[in-house]
Amino acid sequence: MSAEERKVTISVIKADIGSLAGHHKVHPDTMAAASRVLAEAKRKGLIIDYFVTHVGDDLQLIMTHRKGVDSPDIHGLAWDAFKKAAEVAKELGLYAAGQDLLSDAFSGNVRGLGPGVAEMEIVERKSEPIVIFMADKTEPGAFNFPMFRIFADPFNTAGLVIDPRMHDGFKFEVLDVMEGKYVVLNTPEEMYDLLALIGTPGRYVVKRVFRKSDNEIAAVVSVERLNLIAGRYVGKDDPVAIVRAQSGFPALGEILEPFSFPHLVAGWMRGSHWGPLMPVGLKDAKCTRFDGPPRIVGLGFNITKGRLIGPTDLFDDPAFDEARRTAQLIADYMRRHGPFMPHRLGPEEMEYTTLPQVLERLKDRFKEAKDYEKYIKPKIKHSEMLSGAEEMHD
Ligand code: 13P
Ligand code: 13P
Ligand code: MG
Ligand code: MG
Repeated sequence: MSAEERKVTISVIKADIGSLAGHHKVHPDTMAAASRVLAEAKRKGLIIDYFVTHVGDDLQLIMTHRKGVDSPDIHGLAWDAFKKAAEVAKELGLYAAGQDLLSDAFSGNVRGLGPGVAEMEIVERKSEPIVIFMADKTEPGAFNFPMFRIFADPFNTAGLVIDPRMHDGFKFEVLDVMEGKYVVLNTPEEMYDLLALIGTPGRYVVKRVFRKSDNEIAAVVSVERLNLIAGRYVGKDDPVAIVRAQSGFPALGEILEPFSFPHLVAGWMRGSHWGPLMPVGLKDAKCTRFDGPPRIVGLGFNITKGRLIGPTDLFDDPAFDEARRTAQLIADYMRRHGPFMPHRLGPEEMEYTTLPQVLERLKDRFKEAKDYEKYIKPKIKHSEMLSGAEEMHD
């Protein structure tokens, strides 16, 4: 088969269309409704293959096809599947039915309408192993830490040191979700610059990773931030990612290794708290305690002539028991802070806040602080503080 014939696109498109008993888990009847739409599309040849699943309250459509990324046909199909599923959710009275479908009108692309999207077009290798990650109760920046470890940290990924095909390193495309700009940074050379950005995961988000030696795409993350798009709280932007494995990419085990450390991510209860990201199998892919803790599922597939072979449920494994236990301990520890930061997110990151109403109600009760001008008033503005670090340490 020629390279053109071996071209295939993997599209993972997800949405919260309503869930059972709160922001907890997808109802099987809504998954069945979405599956029927995709089965029909497969029969007609629009898609090659599909797999419908869920993580927590997010309905996940995994599809393969030959239409490329951002295809109106494929996005339209996903939109139909979500609409049908949302109808069932409404009929069953599920909670927040239609949550992530921000608009009634589809106009060629689901991005910006609410659903999260991770897509990559590849030329299928002789064997094409991939991992699809899906998380609930967190945001796209939650992938910054594991993506860095997988593709740039030799203490995680032995292949960066010992596999000649990976030894040149990888390129990270980082999106500034506030300004709508992106920058591409090379590792290992620009590793510190990369970390300076992606250590702020609410703003700088790793969108794609490429192998530096030949520009082959290695990973893609959904970067839609629903609440920024909607301009109001509608749920967190529970993200998905696709990562290619083996033969010049990180080995499967190198891709999973970062998740043995349940790092803190933003999300959890009401999208407004830091908590540990717990790796789980599909059977535990439902959020309970304080609507969490935030969870992530990893499904392994082979793409073969466009077909999805698998999946294997990668975190459904005793090797991740200790990570889950650690996540529980961290959850206990963080919860004990109650409404205090740093368990609660900072005011600029919170998805719900009553602060403006509280300030409004109390405004007449605020009195001038004695000797403020003399002793307390900051000598520089807050914005100046951010750029002052260098001088401070001269
Ligand atoms: P195999 O020799 O079993 O293919 O494994 C190679 C590898 O990369 C394991 O991490
Ligand atoms: P989702 O973003 O998963 O819908 O969760 C919203 C929420 O408020 C959880 O407490
Ligand atoms: Mg929800
Ligand atoms: Mg969710």
